[in-house]
Amino acid sequence: MSYNGKIALVTGGGSGMGRLAAQRCARAGAQVAALDVNEVGLGETAEGEKNIFTQVVDVTEPLAVDDAVARIEADLGPVDRVYHAAAIMPLGRILDQDTGVIHKIMAINYGGLVNMAKAVVPPMLERGRGDFVSFASLAGWFPTIYVGAYNASKFATVAFTEVLAHENRGRGVRFACVCPPPVATPLLQQGRDTVWPKLFDEAPPIEPSVVLDAIETSLERGELMCFPTSQTKWGWRMRRWFPELMWKQVHKIEGV
Ligand SMILES: NC(=O)c1ccc[n+]([C@@H]2O[C@H](COP(=O)([O-])OP(=O)(O)OC[C@H]3O[C@@H](n4cnc5c(N)ncnc54)[C@H](O)[C@@H]3O)[C@@H](O)[C@H]2O)c1
Repeated sequence: MSYNGKIALVTGGGSGMGRLAAQRCARAGAQVAALDVNEVGLGETAEGEKNIFTQVVDVTEPLAVDDAVARIEADLGPVDRVYHAAAIMPLGRILDQDTGVIHKIMAINYGGLVNMAKAVVPPMLERGRGDFVSFASLAGWFPTIYVGAYNASKFATVAFTEVLAHENRGRGVRFACVCPPPVATPLLQQGRDTVWPKLFDEAPPIEPSVVLDAIETSLERGELMCFPTSQTKWGWRMRRWFPELMWKQVHKIEGV
């Protein structure tokens, strides 16, 4: 899209792909509202940027999300594009991972999406325009050992975004559900700090800019599911067509 005079809202704007999305939009002429729970990260995102406005918001709080969106629309104007990138990724075997952590992953990664979609999509539909970018993952299609709770949150993200897009098709709002493989951002450290699946070392992480470029292409082409690389698409195909072979490979790689 042409960003001049546009308004973008980015969750997870204090780090990684959210930060890059916020900075790219701002440098291309948009006014950007970056939301995150990480105030320090938000400050770094906005440093030296005159078009990035930051707000500490926890996406698991529906009222806080509603308030933030209302304030952004009142102060900056109607939101043209949302990148909903906020998420966490602690890993572990399901029976070893703390039950509270498993619920927290779902509350942030899936619950945050629900809250953001309910706050921003209805006004976009009323205006008959807008882009809603939902960050899922290849992990939303391809389940694997040590990633169960995160997988569940991203499977939910894929399903929710897919149905939301189809329920509202033809009404002027474009949806993209982005499904990257591992990306070189601070999120991966959460895996390293808990359990690191050997599968993640099968290919080097891709760069955040590759993902953001792929989102732009998917939106332009009207493709709901965005797989940033051809290898990602092969991972998706393998899961769909050969699930038993996929699991055989996973067990071989992880050695369990
Ligand atoms: N990095 C990867 O390997 C990868 C791969 C596939 C998909 N993704 C997805 O892409 C998106 C962006 O990930 P990233 O790699 O940039 O991660 P990141 O860790 O760099 O950034 C995520 C941001 O979300 C924020 N956040 C966490 N909980 C929040 C909450 N309750 N409310 C508001 N903000 C909160 C964090 O503070 C952080 O700044 C995520 O949805 C992630 O699941 C990442």
